[in-house]
Amino acid sequence: MTPANPTAMLAELTHRCPLSCPYCSNPLELIRRDAELSTEQWVEVFRQAGELGVLHVHLSGGEPASRRDLEDLTEAAAEADLYTNLITSGVGLTAKRIAELARRGLEHVQLSIQGPTKAIADEIGGYAGGYERKMQVADWIAAEGLPLTVNAVMHRRNFEKLEDTIDLAVKLGARRLEVATVQFHGWALQNQAALMPTRRQVEAAETIIDDARNRLRGALVIDYVAADYFARFPKACMGGWGSVGLVVTPSGAVMPCHAADTIPHLVFENVRDRPLSEIWEKSDAFNAYRGVDWMQEPCRSCERREIDFGGCRCQAMALAGDAAATDPACEKSPLNEKLQADADAFSRGGDTLVHRAKAPAS
Ligand code: SF4
Ligand code: FES
Repeated sequence: MTPANPTAMLAELTHRCPLSCPYCSNPLELIRRDAELSTEQWVEVFRQAGELGVLHVHLSGGEPASRRDLEDLTEAAAEADLYTNLITSGVGLTAKRIAELARRGLEHVQLSIQGPTKAIADEIGGYAGGYERKMQVADWIAAEGLPLTVNAVMHRRNFEKLEDTIDLAVKLGARRLEVATVQFHGWALQNQAALMPTRRQVEAAETIIDDARNRLRGALVIDYVAADYFARFPKACMGGWGSVGLVVTPSGAVMPCHAADTIPHLVFENVRDRPLSEIWEKSDAFNAYRGVDWMQEPCRSCERREIDFGGCRCQAMALAGDAAATDPACEKSPLNEKLQADADAFSRGGDTLVHRAKAPAS
């Protein structure tokens, strides 16, 4: 059966990044600059994505502003009729670059903040002066009239500042705030003991978010990605594998999610070798966990199988050693008790942050 068209594409333009966040979900081994797709190759990817029916492109990284051709790429995406969203740390942007990006068709910006104060933000981001630069960047975005979403990854070291984070998003003029509890993929896995929130923090967050949603109705939309390790059921990761979105890595591999290369038996085809539409429809990697036929028990006979699609394949791989297993974040998984016990243990221990290593230039 031919799958429905994807609606969203995450274009990881580069793995280069001036920040070194310990929660980075990019792989341990980053793609080098000389292996990145060229400007022309990205332009062709955007053209093909538009033809395939993709509606939104998220220009991401690493830090997409590390690409000197970001303005050209944005224009190409806009010309392909894609709604263009820049996901950025802000570092590497100037007032002039933001004005030029807006002129070339940029429609939305998601600005990450690592904390609501200079001390927290610069410690987590591993970049002195990063917080002040982000505050400037938010002003420049507002000056261009671009809608702003603030992205905040929350963990044990900044969860106590959730209310301040919400206040900061309001102060910056954001229309939307995405509060995502830290997920442990890629580099972040080695920081579980330093970052795992406590159960108390996670429970308190629910109340803080509910109150803020009521108080700020009409002014700020808050999306909240809760901690699945303390929840009853997993998230429908990526809205279901190969269902609504795809990821193109800096070197052109096409994957169903950004961590899919942690599943060792999957082979990801490359836009240099095959059209995007064929990869989406026919590649074994995309078809491996599409729909529900691949499921094992308890997912196979579960009433939620088309709600959460068995959770996250990458988390199942990491924790159960089998990407087709029920996500251990589900209470029906035989591994759920251990997952919760491990999360509680991590939440009690370890203060040492291991900051992200940088991508080599070549
Ligand atoms: Fe979802 Fe599978 Fe758990 Fe059912 S058993 S709730 S489908 S993860
Ligand atoms: Fe890969 Fe969830 S991150 S399926």
